[in-house]
Amino acid sequence: MKDATKFTHIGRPKVETGTSVNPPIIRASTLLFDKADDLYNGGHRIYGRHGSPVHDALSEAFCTLENGAGATLVPCGLAANTASILANVKAGDHILVTDSTYGPVRHFCNTQLSKFGVEIEYYPPNIGAGIEALIRDNTSCILLESPGSLSMEIQDLPAIIKIAKTHNIVTIVDNTWSAGLVYAPLDMGADIAVHSATKFFSGHGDILFGAVVSRTKPMAKNVAATAVAFGNSTSPDDTYQILRGFRTVVTRFAQQSKSALQLATWLESHDKVARAVHPALKSHPNHDLWQRDFTGSSCLFSIVLKPCAQTEVLALLDRLKLFAKGFSFGGFESLVIHCDPQLTRNHDPKFEGPLVRISCGLEDIEDMKADWARSLDQIS
Ligand SMILES: Cc1ncc(COP(=O)(O)O)c(C=O)c1O
Repeated sequence: MKDATKFTHIGRPKVETGTSVNPPIIRASTLLFDKADDLYNGGHRIYGRHGSPVHDALSEAFCTLENGAGATLVPCGLAANTASILANVKAGDHILVTDSTYGPVRHFCNTQLSKFGVEIEYYPPNIGAGIEALIRDNTSCILLESPGSLSMEIQDLPAIIKIAKTHNIVTIVDNTWSAGLVYAPLDMGADIAVHSATKFFSGHGDILFGAVVSRTKPMAKNVAATAVAFGNSTSPDDTYQILRGFRTVVTRFAQQSKSALQLATWLESHDKVARAVHPALKSHPNHDLWQRDFTGSSCLFSIVLKPCAQTEVLALLDRLKLFAKGFSFGGFESLVIHCDPQLTRNHDPKFEGPLVRISCGLEDIEDMKADWARSLDQIS
């Protein structure tokens, strides 16, 4: 069965007379019990933090999406990353993190994880099998993101997983860009796939949500136990909205991705643009890896402008009328950011001009192109 069909039907209540389309929202912190003995000895949920039927339905949807053995729902994508790391490190460990990781994950590693005696090493995203040279006896996890945040490098995931497995190292892949629809890290042998459901599954720029999907049951149990211990639970209302987003995600993702590829192709030929950084374009340095490992592309890409002053870049963004200035991606509205202040790297990705990141929404492609044409043409 194809994803669009699966996600129309997954996690729905059994139909009886007057059944609601999705599982009902049950709001509860306290759960009540008939018998005192059941408070501690029932083998059931005893408190709101342990979820509800709508949580079960959404977990099932994420497991189906990623072909995983268990999913843990958390308040946002950043929490999905931190819960995955915290479940798999201890004081004295060394972890390898892609240099292209999402900025706030880097901030968590540098400011929080480091306090607990974990050593963090950032590796260049194009390292591939060369990662073996960085592995130490105490390396416990590798944190990957492909394509990388802002700079869009595709990693050689199979090569890295193969080496990680020989050294018994856990691999965690942030799979937000692909929404799990065009990239399958768990099928390639990764241990954990992380999602910021804030992006495509919300789809409307108005909910923060995250999910961690594990390939094996013991790993899923480990992540769930860590998330609960740190107080990472999600509200039934937000959980319901993300399950609702699953119903339409395949169609929205396909439309937005199509627009992004068309816009990137068009922008690449514009005389104010040095190149588009989109893995589905032949000009992308890792296009061959994308072709091998992905079945499609997403709504998010970057462009490198021909060298110009930062004031020109800011003015360009201010002239755009349809591409709102705001962080995130995957929502119905097109977004744009300039990357310079947050493009923190240990290994310079070397862009020949200012980098701008674009998320295509659901507007018409001709209107998107016209917006960029008018704004780019005014660069002096
Ligand atoms: C790749 C990636 N992972 C994680 C996150 C964090 O997600 P959230 O905003 O849900 O915390 C983001 C947010 O932009 C992201 O781009």
